[in-house]
Amino acid sequence: MPELPRLAVFPGSFDPLTNGHVDVIDRAGRLFDRVVVALLVNTGKTPLFSAEERAAIIRETFAGRPGVGVDTFDGLLVEYARRRRAAAVVRGLRRAADFDYEVQMTDMNRHLDSSIETVFLVPSPQVAFISSTLVREIAALGGPVEGLVPDPVRARILRRRAAANWRDA
Ligand code: PNS
Repeated sequence: MPELPRLAVFPGSFDPLTNGHVDVIDRAGRLFDRVVVALLVNTGKTPLFSAEERAAIIRETFAGRPGVGVDTFDGLLVEYARRRRAAAVVRGLRRAADFDYEVQMTDMNRHLDSSIETVFLVPSPQVAFISSTLVREIAALGGPVEGLVPDPVRARILRRRAAANWRDA
């Protein structure tokens, strides 16, 4: 019987997608046949970018990469991963500070569904200091985001600045 392609689900808020996320997606792409970047729609926070914009950014960033797709989900991650028949959930682990939260989430997901395995991938140190939270702050304060985010994010931040007379990014 032919084996099913091995799918990884990479869940997150991606508000916005950063070069750290891109690094993890690239690494996952080398381990799995297909990576689905699964965007959580309802984060409960007021986002910098709408879910539609965040999905468009991911699509543009990975255009021409047939192994990487984007999807949205709401509700429990384990239910989504089960529905997609994912071989694994992928999460990035930048440093020790991420560890407790990530392992707690993994344990909870395992409690909810013991068949869902989580794989942690460590991004390159060149991008390990980047977080969406800090990028949002820098963007709001008019700081430079070059090198922190892929071009489709930077272009949108620049457009918003131009519209609002922000300083150069
Ligand atoms: O980018 P983030 O905010 O670190 O991603 C967190 C995310 C989306 C992976 C997490 O909040 C999640 O899985 N939410 C879906 C709801 C759920 O399943 N909650 C129980 C997980 S312990």
